[in-house]
Amino acid sequence: MKKNVLVLPGDGIGQEVVEPAISVMDVAAKQEGCEIIVTQGLVGGVAIDETGSPLPAETLKLAKAADAVLLGGVGGPKWDDLPMASRPEKGLLGLRQGLGLFANLRPALLSAPLASASSLKPDLVADLDILIIRELTGGIYFGEPRGIETRDNERVGFNTMVYSEHEIERIARVGFELASKRNKRLCSVDKANVLEVSQLWREVVNSIAGDYPDVELSHMYVDNAAMQLVRAPKQFDVIVTTNMFGDILSDVAAMLTGSLGMLPSASLAASGVGLYEPVHGTAPDIAGKDIANPLATILSVGMMFRYSLDIPAAANNIDKAVAEVLAEGYRTADIAGPKDDVVGCRTMGELVIERL
Ligand code: IPM
Ligand code: MG
Repeated sequence: MKKNVLVLPGDGIGQEVVEPAISVMDVAAKQEGCEIIVTQGLVGGVAIDETGSPLPAETLKLAKAADAVLLGGVGGPKWDDLPMASRPEKGLLGLRQGLGLFANLRPALLSAPLASASSLKPDLVADLDILIIRELTGGIYFGEPRGIETRDNERVGFNTMVYSEHEIERIARVGFELASKRNKRLCSVDKANVLEVSQLWREVVNSIAGDYPDVELSHMYVDNAAMQLVRAPKQFDVIVTTNMFGDILSDVAAMLTGSLGMLPSASLAASGVGLYEPVHGTAPDIAGKDIANPLATILSVGMMFRYSLDIPAAANNIDKAVAEVLAEGYRTADIAGPKDDVVGCRTMGELVIERL
């Protein structure tokens, strides 16, 4: 069996974290009788530098032809002054839109040995296992009209948060379906006390709840959800929410697990290629120093085996190898306590491969 994976390292620590992840992918695939053919492409700031565009047409073409895409990260101070339409982030947003990746799965799992790395008390987060499902191709990220213009002699900036019924329904169904395979609790997060778009969101989510009688549905306003995530995170099983609320809440959830460096993600379309990326950014301040944590990217490769390549055994093996390395006490700097063995990015990757 052969599978094609497009790797887009991107900027900052992107290059460093995808390298060990590619090696892990290769070994885990071979163990299950699969060969992965890796192609590399450009996205983000490096793509701007080389081609003038954050998402060259060639990259989107390669992505559409692949079985899955693995992405490092995009953005950095070098490109911060560019106009909105040509920033590195547009490369990632364009990929999400161009591939129809409307469902973003961000699981926040606390591996027991990392309980003390969390900023919350260990008993609040021990065995934490929540899944945030973020709508990824709509909402305020893509809504029109948007812009900055002059009105009455001053500049005004504006964006539009817009969701149509079909967009709400398809992401809500992903939420119900994944909740029914887990602990059967789905919490839909909105701001229906203030926003019409959220009122519609809530109505549509309620209207399909009857199709999933085994799932217990609740609703929560986003401000309360942010508070509950740091007060008592274990009350959640699956959270489904909009693009921007999901962006914010998933960073909160990530910190519960000790570090943004631990959180993988999968972005899925109704059919076709999926994109896998760590939730963390490009961390320009630590780029090139071999100290970044590659585990979020390695765990994203695990999700790739599960959701796109259909080799669940490889996914389980990767999850297990990562758990073993952590249980043995190896830590990158971001998750290390004062007494821990600190290893670099490359070494962390090698340790995972040894356990595989
Ligand atoms: C994320 C990131 C992106 C987003 C940025 C880089 C455009 O923060 O994937 O969470 O806002 O979606
Ligand atoms: Mg984010």
